[in-house]
Amino acid sequence: MQVQWYPGHMTKAKRMMQENIKLVDLIIELVDARAPISSRNPDIDTLGAGKSRLILLNKADLAEEHWNSRWIEHFKEKGILAVKVNSKKGGGIKSIQGVIQEACKEKMERDRKRGILNRPVRAMVAGIPNVGKSTFINSLAGKACTKTGNKPGVTRGKQWIRLNRQVELLDTPGILWPKFEDQRIGLCLAMIGSIKEEVLNLEELAAHAVSFLNREYPGMLEDKYGTSRCEDPYEALAAIAQSRNCLLKGGEADIEKAALLFLDDFRNGRLGRLTLERPVKEEIE
Ligand code: G4P
Repeated sequence: MQVQWYPGHMTKAKRMMQENIKLVDLIIELVDARAPISSRNPDIDTLGAGKSRLILLNKADLAEEHWNSRWIEHFKEKGILAVKVNSKKGGGIKSIQGVIQEACKEKMERDRKRGILNRPVRAMVAGIPNVGKSTFINSLAGKACTKTGNKPGVTRGKQWIRLNRQVELLDTPGILWPKFEDQRIGLCLAMIGSIKEEVLNLEELAAHAVSFLNREYPGMLEDKYGTSRCEDPYEALAAIAQSRNCLLKGGEADIEKAALLFLDDFRNGRLGRLTLERPVKEEIE
């Protein structure tokens, strides 16, 4: 299946990102806990060279707990501090300020040795579209933070959220782009709902998601819809259509409607918690 991309505004986003990176000490990179590789930006390591780094496995509530822990270990092995969060419900948000300081401790120590005291660490949030950047910033900003005004001459036009005396966060997130050229990654992002639906063939996408479940989470589909196991994903969708009354005139299964309903359940955790990528086997078919 061809996933099409519309990277039109991405050049501007990249320029903005490069400008903003100059202003910060720390990049807080949000990834989707269900697909931490596909939802990473391929250039983040280059863009963030010389900066402190923190990875947030966002939407951790939708991914399997066991794999969340494995991913945290995986990034730790690569020398990057990672923590899981649920920005929507605020899970893990309270401890973030401490984690930010932990991620910047070497920089703070360097400052201290140079006699630079009381200079807050500046951080920015970055990630691909739909990974939860705005939700995360709002969730964090909602926790007793004060917005600082523009600082003429230093950060003109930028708004900073003061988290505490040690940390300030840029209130506009950096939008990054996924790995456009890799169709498999496109498919994975489409399954978790990070790509606009209009550019996709929904039935094909749903069929891929059914095959993924049959392979990695056997029984999950049948438990949810009360259907029997079908190896053919389109038959499985037809069975879902029957079970959920998605029928065309004459009683024929409305596969398109069933595909939509199923994908919505898949993406929003109503089938259960799902991890599409695992550290040992980083990509799905
Ligand atoms: P962005 O700025 O990176 O583009 O993402 P944004 O915050 O707009 O979030 C995209 C979607 O992801 C939103 O859902 C948001 O509620 C959801 N989301 C963000 N963080 C989490 C999380 O930790 N867990 C879960 N389960 N969902 C999260 P939406 O469907 O666009 O809106 P709505 O459902 O909130 O109305």
